Parts: sequence; C-alpha cells; structure tokens
Amino acid sequence: MKFNIYAFAFTLVAANTIAVYSEPANFDVINALASYGLHVDSVARKRAEDSVSSRYHCATACNQLASHFKSQILPAGTSAYDEWRSQFWSSYQQDALPKCIFQPSKADHVVIAVLLSRWSHCPFAVKSGGHAAMKEASSATCGITIDMAKLNSIVLANDKKIAKIGPGDTWYDVFTKLESEGVSVVGGRVQNVGVGGFLLGGGISLFANERGWACDNVANYELVTAIGAVLHVNQSSYPDLYRSLRGGGPNFGLIHGGSMTYHYPSQHQAYREAHKRLDFISVLAVDNDANPNTTAFDEFKDIAALSDTRKVRTQSDLAAENGAPLPNGMREHYWDQTFRFDGNFVKWMGEVFYEELNPIKKSIEGLMVMLLFQPVTRESVRKMQRNGGNTLPLVEREAPYVIINYAAMWSKPTVEDESIVVDTVSKTMGRIVEEGKRRKLFVDYIYMNYGSEYSDVLASYGPKLHHQLEVVATQVDPVGVFQYLRSGYFKFGGPPRTRGHETIPSPHVRNH
Ligand SMILES: *[C@@H]1O[C@H](CO)[C@@H](O)[C@H](O)[C@H]1NC(C)=O
Ligand SMILES: *[C@@H]1O[C@H](CO)[C@@H](O)[C@H](O)[C@H]1NC(C)=O
Repeated sequence: MKFNIYAFAFTLVAANTIAVYSEPANFDVINALASYGLHVDSVARKRAEDSVSSRYHCATACNQLASHFKSQILPAGTSAYDEWRSQFWSSYQQDALPKCIFQPSKADHVVIAVLLSRWSHCPFAVKSGGHAAMKEASSATCGITIDMAKLNSIVLANDKKIAKIGPGDTWYDVFTKLESEGVSVVGGRVQNVGVGGFLLGGGISLFANERGWACDNVANYELVTAIGAVLHVNQSSYPDLYRSLRGGGPNFGLIHGGSMTYHYPSQHQAYREAHKRLDFISVLAVDNDANPNTTAFDEFKDIAALSDTRKVRTQSDLAAENGAPLPNGMREHYWDQTFRFDGNFVKWMGEVFYEELNPIKKSIEGLMVMLLFQPVTRESVRKMQRNGGNTLPLVEREAPYVIINYAAMWSKPTVEDESIVVDTVSKTMGRIVEEGKRRKLFVDYIYMNYGSEYSDVLASYGPKLHHQLEVVATQVDPVGVFQYLRSGYFKFGGPPRTRGHETIPSPHVRNH
C-alpha cells in the first residue's frame, strides 16, 4: 500500500502592523445596491419601528431577488420550496417557513442578499449543510433563507497542499473528491454535515491530536461583511478577525468560500465496539497508521462486540457510516457541557444518565438519547495554537477535557414530548454540573456545534474572550446586521431561546 504523506508547509507571513477591518462610516446601502445594478431607491419601503411589521419588508426584498435571479429563488407556496424544506435533518428546521429561499452561485449574489436584507430590514438565515438541530439555525421564518448549496466547488491546488472549498459542500463530498486525488483535509466526522457552520463553531475532527480542530486548519476565509465587502481573512491579512472566525460562530459575516491547508493520507483505521444488548456503548477510535495489524485497539479486545467495523478505510467511508444512524426528519435536540477528564466521573455520569432517562424511554415515541463523550486531549489543545490560535477557551494545562454531548431524537412534533425530553435532559445536566463542580472538574465551555438553543455559548467562552469577540464583531459590523437580522443560532446577546419565550430579533438596525 502506498502512503501519500506530504509535509505541511504553510509559511506564515509576519505582520508588522495589525490590520483591523472596520466598516467605513459613510456607507450607504442604497448606493451599494445600485453598484450591483439594483435600484431600490425607487422602490417604496415602509419604515417600521417594530419588529413585526419590519418582516413585511421581506416581500419587497424577495421580489427584488426574484426579478434579478429567477432560477435561483424558491418562493413560498411552490413545490420546489416544500421539497427543499423537507430535506433538513432536524424537523425543527423543516418547520421554519421563509418568505423565499435564495441560492447564490457566486460571491456577488451573497453580497446582494446581505445588502437587500440590510436595506429592507428583512431577517435572513444561512444554510450550509443545515445540520444544526435547533429551529431557525439555518432557515428564517418569514425571512430570506440563503442556501449555499450552489457554492460547492472543491478545488485542489496543483501541489496538493491546499484545497479551496465552498461553504455549501458537505464533508462527504469534500472527502470523496479529495480522496480521488489521494489526499484529504481535517474535517467533520458525519457525512452530511456542511462545511460552513462546522468550521465556524470549531469542528471536532478525527485528526485533532495531530492537527487541532478543523477550524485550526483553515488557511483563509472568504468573508462577506455587513456592507457587502468580500474579505480574504487569514493570519497575515486580518489576524484578529481570523482568530475570531475560528470558533466565534456566524457573528462577523457570511462565509462564501475558503481554503483549507493540509491534506492527509486518506486511509485510516476505525474501531467501533458495542456491548450490552439494548442500551449499548459505541467507541469510535482511529489510528492514522493505515496498518490492518495495529495494536492500538488491543485494550478493547476483551469486550464482546455486537458489531465491529474496524478496517482500513477512507474518511468518506467512515463519515458515511457515522451518518447512517442519523435519519432526516426527526425532532432533534442537542446539548453539551465540558469537564476536565476523570474516568470515575465519566462512569458516574453514565449511571446518572440511565437513572434519569430510562423512566421516559417508553413514553416518548421513537425516543433515542445518546450520551457522547468527546475527549479533548492535551495534545489537541496544543495543536490548536497553529496559525495564531483559535478563539476557544481551552487551555493546555487544564486538558484533557471531555465534552459531553446529549443528543436526543424522537418522532412526534408535540409540545408535550418536547417538554418531557428537554426537562429530563436539563435535570440530568443539572445533576452532572453540580457533581462536576463538587469534584472541581466543571469547565464553563459549551462547544458551539452541539449547543442547545437554551445555552449561551459565547458567554461560556468567559468574559475576556467574549469581550474580544464582541469588539471584533463591532468593528466589522457596527450596526449589528449579523446580531439583529440574522435569525437564530449563537450571538452575543444570550441564548437563541429562553424557556417559555421565543427571542425575536430586534429591529434596531440603522439603515446606513
Ligand atoms: C490572505 O489575505 C490576503 C489579502 O487579504 C491575500 O492576498 C492572501 O492570498 C491570503 N492568504 C491566503 C493563504 O489565502
Ligand atoms: C498483517 O498481518 C498479516 C498476517 O500476519 C500479514 O500477512 C500482513 O503482511 C500484515 N500487514 C501489515 C501491513 O503489516
């Protein structure tokens, strides 16, 4: 077997002056749209002071898009629109009813969508893979849903050291395309997760111990800002913004493209191991040496396996296997917490989990709840320092950590089932946090990509990082287009949803 191992050779350019991107003070959205051929100054637009009526402007914005991009718009009420909505993984996302769905096929189109939203005060959402569990994460009710599906190119540089990847790709597509060239990138572990959101939240990867998380391997982000500027953001151009994009979420602009360094030998070995009959344990472990006779998994060999799919395989093959038990169209709710790793505590958590969740198992149709332990090794935290470091509150001296992901899915879209599941998991998490604090293991970090809509992810990064991120976001987006007009997901103002009340986007975005 031939291994394609290439040295990593990305050279950083020392920056003498730190470039900060700031929105120009004299920005005028009507002129900006005119420079793209959209003359909205003649279109009547009622100025509304309250959020409810501001949503009516979406009809105007969607009409503008429809008249310029006929084949790239799916209006409400058409079968294509219904078909598009039915393809979300989480049925919560299927529930969102956008005024229109817009599918840009180049950067300019993304710019126009952002400017039209800003001009009309119409909320928008962005869908890459749309694999977030929570409502409104990737689709905006009554607003413009910008679907990145057509921005899905994957171009490997001639020297095979860097790949340019569109935000609309799924990891399965990225891996299969690059594997045909004998290389891969540090990406996700589940096939139909999209590139854009995954990278902005951090991106736990199979190669964390050698390369950090996926965001630590992005060489360059192509970012559309709130004024429609297209920036190339990297360690030498805008270091603060670059660092913020590595884990800071969609608070700075809209990613329309990017490139990732490092391709990887595409073979690796995975090990899955199960025991117990109904409730089972599954282990996913990878040895990057593609040696079928590896001794790396010997510690597991005494456990009788329900199924053992160890083999030398490609990253796409494993991503497909991991995605298979995650069907589309179920109610989905994810939560997570972080602790310093302690084997006894992990064992204790497993017991509490069964104790709390078993009683509701039979009463909720189709319920499956998983408790997933995602170890974050000291080595992987050290590797996160590559290229200037990311913006996550993980420090080497506290590692290893374990991120606990509670993943619940069930069948029926009823308020009753939702509240039983959410209340039971919340109670379980409360007990686990309390015990974790007593054992001095609790770490206040919520991994964005598994965050619940009730959690304040950015606050969990701690006051210092939260402040730094907010400063950068305010420089690049002073009027708060990405805070107030972007629907759902994790922003600076608290959790996407608080128990009992939906948080409605604030309308207080200035027009210019
Ligand atoms: C970094 O950004 C600058 C301009 O903003 C660009 O010229 C350069 O090619 C980028 N570097 C990478 C690695 O993409
Ligand atoms: C694995 O073990 C088998 C049987 O001993 C041997 O034939 C094969 O060459 C080994 N493969 C590697 C890559 O070492």
